[in-house]
Order: sequence, then structure tokens, then C-alpha cells
Amino acid sequence: MKLYATAAAATVALFLLLATIQTTPAAADELQEEEETTTTINADEESTAEAITEPPIKLVHVLNPGEREYLSPNLIGVQNIAMTFLPLSMNFVNIIDAFREIVNGIRYEIILNAVDTKSKDADTICRLVILEQPWITTQWGDKHRELINSNCSDVADNSLSSDMEPEQRSKALNDKYSSRIKRSLNDVVPGGRKPFDEKEAEEQLQRTLDKLTAGEGPHYKIIKVYSASRQVVSGTLTRIDADLTDGNDALHRCIVEIWAQPWLEKGHDITFKCRNQPTVHARHSRSVEWAEKKTHKKRNHHTLNKIEHLFHKFQLKYKRQYANTAEHQMRLRIFRQNLRTIEELNANERGSAKYGITQFADMTSTEYKLHAGLWQRSEDKPTGGAAAVVPPYAGEMPKEFDWRQKKAVTHVKNQGQCGSCWAFSVTGNIEGLYAIKTGELEEFSEQELLDCDSTDSACNGGLMDNAYKAIKDIGGLEYESEYPYAAKKMQCHFNRTMSHVQLSGFVDLPKGNETAMQEWLLSNGPISIGLNANAMQFYRGGVSHPWAPLCSKKNLDHGVLIVGYGVSDYPNFHKTLPYWIVKNSWGPRWGEQGYYRIYRGDNTCGVSEMATSAVLA
Ligand SMILES: *[C@@H]1O[C@H](CO)[C@@H](O)[C@H](O)[C@H]1NC(C)=O
Ligand SMILES: *[C@@H]1O[C@H](CO)[C@@H](O)[C@H](O)[C@H]1NC(C)=O
Ligand SMILES: *[C@@H]1O[C@H](CO)[C@@H](O)[C@H](O)[C@H]1NC(C)=O
Repeated sequence: MKLYATAAAATVALFLLLATIQTTPAAADELQEEEETTTTINADEESTAEAITEPPIKLVHVLNPGEREYLSPNLIGVQNIAMTFLPLSMNFVNIIDAFREIVNGIRYEIILNAVDTKSKDADTICRLVILEQPWITTQWGDKHRELINSNCSDVADNSLSSDMEPEQRSKALNDKYSSRIKRSLNDVVPGGRKPFDEKEAEEQLQRTLDKLTAGEGPHYKIIKVYSASRQVVSGTLTRIDADLTDGNDALHRCIVEIWAQPWLEKGHDITFKCRNQPTVHARHSRSVEWAEKKTHKKRNHHTLNKIEHLFHKFQLKYKRQYANTAEHQMRLRIFRQNLRTIEELNANERGSAKYGITQFADMTSTEYKLHAGLWQRSEDKPTGGAAAVVPPYAGEMPKEFDWRQKKAVTHVKNQGQCGSCWAFSVTGNIEGLYAIKTGELEEFSEQELLDCDSTDSACNGGLMDNAYKAIKDIGGLEYESEYPYAAKKMQCHFNRTMSHVQLSGFVDLPKGNETAMQEWLLSNGPISIGLNANAMQFYRGGVSHPWAPLCSKKNLDHGVLIVGYGVSDYPNFHKTLPYWIVKNSWGPRWGEQGYYRIYRGDNTCGVSEMATSAVLA
């Protein structure tokens, strides 16, 4: 009960903190959050009696050079920028991720879902990089933007030689867009649009004006249309350059943008940008489809709130605090993406493992992999180890075996924020061999390896092969207590008089033979292995047997220790799961009290690709 109260107090404190950060005045910006969205969020808060009073996420538009700001996918401004630069053959669907930073201008990076109409409406992901130079304005006072990089091109763009280097290609692409800008003087914003029949444009504009006149919109009449262009997006965006007269018969040269979206049916968003006049926004009445879409959105926001709630729980449990709102936004975004990965892992799991929120839930896979630290072994170079001699096991091998029960395994250690898995894998192996040989269970020093093994790179990774050789050359290992772990590289202070174990070399176990590994483990001790740690980021327990495409045998990126094996029977599911017991070095809070169980028998995640062991002198 006391614990609960403390947690609740912490929650309140966190919310206060967040509230303070988020009430920083957000400058009015053209990247307005979609009005309807905001309304929906508020409606949600009223209609649900949930105790979560999280403030809505607001953007703080104060950017320093080099600072990255993550942008909400609901920002109309971001959507407009993306649509402007998407090729004609692609229809915009939605923004996946967007951020901006100050460089030599404002650099937008936008990842979006699109449909490629030139390729049977295939779903496509596009990445666009756009540079905005607000100090250069177009004829109509709009910000100057240009496409710096895009990996989505239309057919015309495909005519650019595909064997060009990516930089050349993006330059050529950009030249194309720039020349379009120069050609079409009347265009407000550069981009991939095609000219639109002027007569048709005039008709559309007339219909639009008629509708607006019937309501409260501006009372304009068309005098002359100069040019029009239309862009097919998730609807159509028509831009018409025309002379219009207002209710007082005054003449204005205007750019009219009519944005029609499928769910608006007869509804349109209209913007009048007339010279020397303030910009006017107008909108037609909404259709039934619009109302439905709104309800649908509401549901989406429910899930968003749920994710935010999970995220706050995660922050409390793992004591995560972020420097600013932008980072909070970014972490929330990664967290949301990770929840999808977790779903995918669970949906495709062939063993009994459960994947969920762990201490790595707010990290990208790249950041997460920094907590491993195994280098790739080069295939063509000899490892330097001798081939292990695996004598056939006399009699039938036991169904289960566990070196922890023979007092040959020390407690689970924690490598911290340091890519030193390779050192922990090696000390674990030596601790086992030493305990079996001498009957004494001792902890050996990883820090000595971080400091004194110059063939490996401390927190920047290493290989077990290198470490065995280094231990032989250095002259042995000190105890953990004499040479304690610091999670960073320090000056080597190895003292030969305190070397308690020496090596004569190491052995490589046959690749891809888990029977041989089993025999070797029974007669020799724990085995050091490299594996692909993809499934470990979100592992919560059980026998992990991820779907092979999610855990390639080739990408070994983590060094760990096999200490035993067993079999799980699930008679109700007619399932038998043989597994390895793997000791990890991420502390006892991770996985099954620090351990991982992984399927045994089909080289899952490459468990039998890099199996080695030291040989004691
Ligand atoms: C474009 O890049 C994004 C992100 O880098 C990638 O996910 C996407 O598949 C790429 N699309 C194409 C068509 O190459
Ligand atoms: C090495 O350890 C021994 C025994 O503890 C000690 O007497 C000696 O001074 C140490 N040598 C150095 C260089 O620290
Ligand atoms: C695996 O190793 C065992 C024991 O060393 C051996 O008997 C067996 O033939 C090997 N299997 C393969 C496929 O190489």
C-alpha cells in the first residue's frame, strides 16, 4: 500500500513536470494541428471517466540549430509539404514520421505512406527531404522550398538513369523540380504538379465561388484565369491563378487553392491568397462520410491515449526522464513503433515466448544494439581457435541439464550502457570451466578485458575469439573483486601476481551442430555463443522461437553464455519445445531473472554459428 502511494505521488509529480514543459507558449505557426483532431481529443477527455489526465501533446516551435523536432503526423502543414513534393503518380496516404531541424534553412524529413498508381496501386513508403529557406519568398510571399532528396519517383523521373549514384540521382531529380519551378512562374510552391485545363478550372472555381457566396464565404467573381494546376493526392489539390473581383467590385490577382479530399465528398477546403490582402480560408459544408471519418478518428485517438498511458507507466517503471518535449515526443514515437514490433513478434512466435515492454522499449533497434557489442567475425579469416574434439556421449544424453545446479555459474551481471557483451560471455565461460576444474566458483574480471585487451574495443564491441587470445597474452584474469567493472575503458592495471586463471587457447565448436554442442556442454561446461539479439529486445519469458525472417542466423550481434538445456512440453497444444538456457548480461530484471530460453534444434537466431570455449592452461 505504501509502495502504491509512492508510485501515485511520483505519477502526479511527473504530470506536473510534463504540464510545465508543455505549457511553454507555442508560437503560432503555419504547421497547425488539424483543427478537427484537436476537437476530437477534447471530446474524448470529456466522454471518458479515465483517471489519466495527460495534457495533449503540443509542439514547442523554438528550435535551435542542430536540434531535431519531431512533428505530429496530423499537422496539415507537414501533409501539404509532403503532397507538394510527391510525384504525380503517387497518392498520399498518411505521414508516418516527420521532423525538422535547422541547418542552412529548415530541413524537413518526412516518411510517408503512399499508393503508387503506376504500379497497381502498390503501397509504398517514401522518404522526402525538403529544405525550406524562409528568407527567400516566392512572388506571392510563400516560403521557398525545394526537394533535396526523395526515393519515390514517378515514371518521368525513372527516365533518370537508374545506375546513377544516389547523390547524382537526387541532384538530377532536384534539377527537374527546380526547372519546373522556373518554368511555371505562377506557381506558388514548387512541386510535381501538372497543368490543369483552364476551362475546367474556371468551371470548378465558379462552382466553388457559387457555393461560398451561398454561405458566409468571401464574395468573389472570376474575371480571368491565368493558369491552373492540379495535383492528385489523397484527393485533389487544384491551384488556380486568377483575377477576381470582390463584393465592392475591386479587382484582385489571387491564387486559389482548392483541396478536395475523398471523405469530404462535396466538401472542399479553399484558400484565397490575393495580392496585398490577408489570406482567406473557407470550407464547404461536410458530408455524412466526413462525420463517419470523424468517429473513426476518435477511435484512433483512443488507442493513442492508451499508448501514452503505457508510455507513462514505462517511464515510471524504468525511471526515464527526457531532456525536453521534443525528446519526449521522439521517444513516444519510437515506443509506439516498438509496440508494433512487439505485436509482430508475438503474432509470429513459434515457441512459447512472450514479448512486451522492457527497458529497451523506448529505443530504436540501433540504440538497443549498443547494449550488446558483438562484432561480425570475418568469414574468410581463421578464428585462431582449434576445432573442438567432441567425444560421443556415453549412453543416452539427459533430457535436461543445468550447470547452475552444479554451482558452475555466477550470478547474472549487468554490462550497462556499454557494448561489452563479448567480455561477459568470455568470463562466464571461464568461470564455469574454473569452477568445474577446481570446485571453486569465482567471478572473473571483465574490466581487465575492457582495459587491457587491445584487439577488442571495450564498450565499442569485440569478439570472444580475440578475448581468449588476449587473456593468454596478458597472462590471465584477475578476480572481479580485485578488478571491478566500470562500464567504460580505463587505464590497464593488470597485476600478474593476482592472475588466478590462465588460458592455453580456445576451441571452436562445429557450426550448426546443436547435438555436438549438447555433448560438449555435458562433458566440459558452459559454452560461449554469439547470436542475433533481435528477439531479446522485448523478451519477457518463455521459450523463444521467433519467426526466422525476424531473426536471421547471419546477423550475430550479441555474445552470451549457454549454461544448460531442457525441454518444455505443452501436451494441450501437442507441442514439445527443446531449449537452451542462456545467461545474459543485462542484469536480473531482464527476461527470466536475467536468463533467456531459446529454441534448440534449428539454429534459431544463429545460436550454433559461433560457439566457442576457452581452454584452461
Ligand atoms: C524510401 O526510404 C524509406 C526510409 O528510408 C524506406 O522505408 C522505403 O522503403 C524507401 N522507399 C523506396 C521506394 O525505396
Ligand atoms: C601487485 O599485487 C601484489 C599483491 O597484492 C602487490 O604486493 C604489488 O604491489 C602489486 N603490484 C603493483 C605494481 O601494483
Ligand atoms: C554433429 O556432431 C555429432 C557429435 O560430434 C556427430 O556425431 C554428428 O555426425 C554431427 N552431425 C552433423 C550433421 O554433422
